[in-house]
Amino acid sequence: VEVPNENRVTVSLRELIESKEFCSAKAENVPFVVGKDVIGNVLVMELAKLTHILIAGCSGSGKSVFVRSILVSMMQKCSPKDMRLIICDPKGVDFVAFKGVPHLLIDEIIVDRPKIIKILDWAVKEMGRRYSKLQEAGCANIAEYNKIMKDREEMPRIVLFIDEFADLVSADKLNILPKVQILAQKARAAGIHVILAMQRPSVEIISGDIKVNFSTRISLKMQTAVDSRTILDETGAENLLNHGDMLFFTPNDSHLIRAQGPNVSGEEIFKVVQFLKTNNKCVFDEKIKAYLDKTSSSDTVLTGEADDDDKDFELKKKALEFVIRTQSTSVCALQRELRVGFNRASVLKDWMIKNGYVGNSLENNKSEVKITMEDYDKMFGEQK
Ligand SMILES: Nc1ncnc2c1ncn2[C@@H]1O[C@H](COP(=O)(O)OP(=O)(O)O)[C@@H](O)[C@H]1O
Ligand SMILES: [Mg+2]
Repeated sequence: VEVPNENRVTVSLRELIESKEFCSAKAENVPFVVGKDVIGNVLVMELAKLTHILIAGCSGSGKSVFVRSILVSMMQKCSPKDMRLIICDPKGVDFVAFKGVPHLLIDEIIVDRPKIIKILDWAVKEMGRRYSKLQEAGCANIAEYNKIMKDREEMPRIVLFIDEFADLVSADKLNILPKVQILAQKARAAGIHVILAMQRPSVEIISGDIKVNFSTRISLKMQTAVDSRTILDETGAENLLNHGDMLFFTPNDSHLIRAQGPNVSGEEIFKVVQFLKTNNKCVFDEKIKAYLDKTSSSDTVLTGEADDDDKDFELKKKALEFVIRTQSTSVCALQRELRVGFNRASVLKDWMIKNGYVGNSLENNKSEVKITMEDYDKMFGEQK
């Protein structure tokens, strides 16, 4: 791994966006700028050619600034017809400047955890809907589909960005991790791309099978060599400088590449956003917004009061373990096994269906069990 270069260069977003490398990239591939490599080459990535992206770095390393530059460059290149954005920012400060930009799918930077969970639910459903459309049209992926549907019913690529992902998972593993796992495995062909940013990727959060599907991994400065290894499978990130100095690899790279990310100020973003707002029609999806604002009855029953959280968690866990072990999904059996009433058992079953753990066919009250013991172990780790 390269030795840190103490003579840091500052890279401006503007010069990267105006580079020939970025200008020649095609909007349909959703390109974005990364930064400059150690000899000054401009680095551009194309989301359509990557899988999902994992970004890590200690506090102050420049993750939020880096993601802002990724999103701004995408928005400058792609129209809202090519690309729509969902931004989840639990801190609620770093992405406010994006509010109102026509690329957003809903006119909101999502801050609250329950809403982030709901947008994940929505994304899983949207993935299913898109798969049906691809199937009907006989297409293997969104690129083929959009070629056939040119100027008729094209689907925009969706970029789902979640900041502070590790904190979110620590707070509610069960309702977040499995959904991200499903998206990571299957969403790319449907044109849904996930970008996760976090400070410390502990092995419990970034388990092996999540990592497999996040095959583009970018590390800004890390606290320790162990942290570096967790994200990059190599040490080195602990020696980086702060402020946008990074190491990364994509599926196309055989080794780690060092880069300096661009700086982008809030003011610069504000200007771009104002420009995009006045030059594009904003068509936000009110249906999704309504879905996020609605609290579903089954969710309230299951998450309810804070005191009930642990009990619900235990029940969900037991219910899953039971259906995997017995391959039986009947509400009666769940009632007997868990010693709960019919309502509670039904809600549990709905929850399993909603999350894709069991199928939805109600024939003979038998649904297909889709979750395996292996999935279960991954979900609950050593908590078991
Ligand atoms: N590429 C960069 N070039 C110059 N300064 C940067 C760069 N990235 C970050 N910084 C500086 O570092 C600070 C922290 O960055 P931030 O993205 O908020 O870190 P993180 O999200 O990792 O905690 C920023 O306020 C900015 O001053
Ligand atoms: Mg940040």
